[in-house]
Amino acid sequence: MPEIFIDGRAVQAEKDQTVLQAALANGIFIPYFCWHPQLSVAGNCRICVVEVEAKGGSWLDISCNMPVSEGMRVRTDSEEVRAQRKAILQFITLNHPVDCGICDKAGECTLQDYHYAYNGAPSISHDPKVRATKFFDLSRRILLDNERCILCSRCVRFTREISKSHALGIEDRGDHSLVRPAEDGCFDDDPYSDNVIDLCPVGALLAKSFLYKARVWYLRPTPSVCPGCERGCAVNLWHRRPEWQLNALDPRQNTAIARVTPRENPAVNGPWICNKGRDLAAIFERARAEQAMLKGAPVGLAEAIAAARRLIEAARHPVALVSNWGSNEELAAFKRSLAGRFSAAFVKIDRQPDPGERLEDDFLIKRDKNPNTAGARALFDDAPAALPAATDLVLVWGEGGDFARLPAGAKTILLGSYLAPENGHADVFIPVSIQTERRGSYTNFAGVVSTFEPCFAKKPAVADAEALFAQLGAEERVPA
Ligand code: SF4
Ligand code: SF4
Ligand code: FES
Repeated sequence: MPEIFIDGRAVQAEKDQTVLQAALANGIFIPYFCWHPQLSVAGNCRICVVEVEAKGGSWLDISCNMPVSEGMRVRTDSEEVRAQRKAILQFITLNHPVDCGICDKAGECTLQDYHYAYNGAPSISHDPKVRATKFFDLSRRILLDNERCILCSRCVRFTREISKSHALGIEDRGDHSLVRPAEDGCFDDDPYSDNVIDLCPVGALLAKSFLYKARVWYLRPTPSVCPGCERGCAVNLWHRRPEWQLNALDPRQNTAIARVTPRENPAVNGPWICNKGRDLAAIFERARAEQAMLKGAPVGLAEAIAAARRLIEAARHPVALVSNWGSNEELAAFKRSLAGRFSAAFVKIDRQPDPGERLEDDFLIKRDKNPNTAGARALFDDAPAALPAATDLVLVWGEGGDFARLPAGAKTILLGSYLAPENGHADVFIPVSIQTERRGSYTNFAGVVSTFEPCFAKKPAVADAEALFAQLGAEERVPA
């Protein structure tokens, strides 16, 4: 382990680390734009400059491409380093529009942060800025503002090294350089394309779905897990902060998912997610079922729960189909409170792949489009092709139940969260909460357990499945 000296402090570095990596690992910050821990070194932005001290005199060099060596001495904040960084920031902003007031990246932009930390001065240039494309359609999902691009090449390297779509490149030279797709529309086919939005250190790559929707300081992230497939990527669900709730403007925004970003988890997804994970609002914000029903007739939640209990008590061969979107805690609650009251309980597959959806690849996307099949299978068996003919009651929890194939004459209790025709046909329909309204965990295909937190309150007319199972399994008799 080489010992190096950063700003006079002895630091134990790993032998294959760069000075930048050794500094960051030891809590010493050196700014960087083009370097990224998951990408190859490009060394083009020069902001990570440090001063190397040696017997024959010192020199300035970039730390992201400088391997550590025994006894090496570097300074990260000398007068020369500060002057160089300032000059680099002047250069990077030479043709930059500095339109932070209308930029979605404001509040999360490293250029903005570094400008205040290391430059702070207005531009010294009197020449007019070189104009570039302001709204270039990079893909169906992403807008590119070439005027804000600092040509760090992170987005290009992502498509070459991580998603392997090779969809992006940089064309032309000097101040005419432009990030462009390799062919028209080819970035549309990259199911991981939106990671470049997070990777971009400035506001050059913008999500069309989030464009001008909210300033990031009005939003708060809630840690969650993507239920889009059995990978179970760690994500942050961004939504409006309670202190910035809207009253006069559309109040639905207060309980809407504004955007989804990856939450780094090396054991599951690293710092990446696929585009389906970005679109979780399309799954969670479908029209909700919030009315309990008995054969389609609206009733109060308590009445529906009492009716369900009566059906369970009266049944001779009740069978349950449990949801593989249920959390580990809900599944355990079902097993604890209700498994003994059912002749059998089987795992149901709630969701199948959408038409045209990528089924599987060797990066993140998995074939099973449900988040907790492994957790459900740890407690219950897979459903047989057909339920026993003697089944006289089926409790269906979640989506994907095939009601046409249930044994003839069997009564049904359906626990669902979204509006669906079958809700009104069930003998008892009980609306239940969704992932964004409760705390819990899923077990992914590799056995990694990930937890999620609630970001919105459930409505009183909607049941919490964990509490519901305890009520349905309680011992005292329900009056007829
Ligand atoms: S668009 Fe962003 S990530 Fe891509 S080269 Fe420009 S600044 Fe870098
Ligand atoms: S790979 Fe699967 S879990 Fe990860 S973001 Fe995509 S759909 Fe969600
Ligand atoms: S971070 Fe080192 S040159 Fe860009």
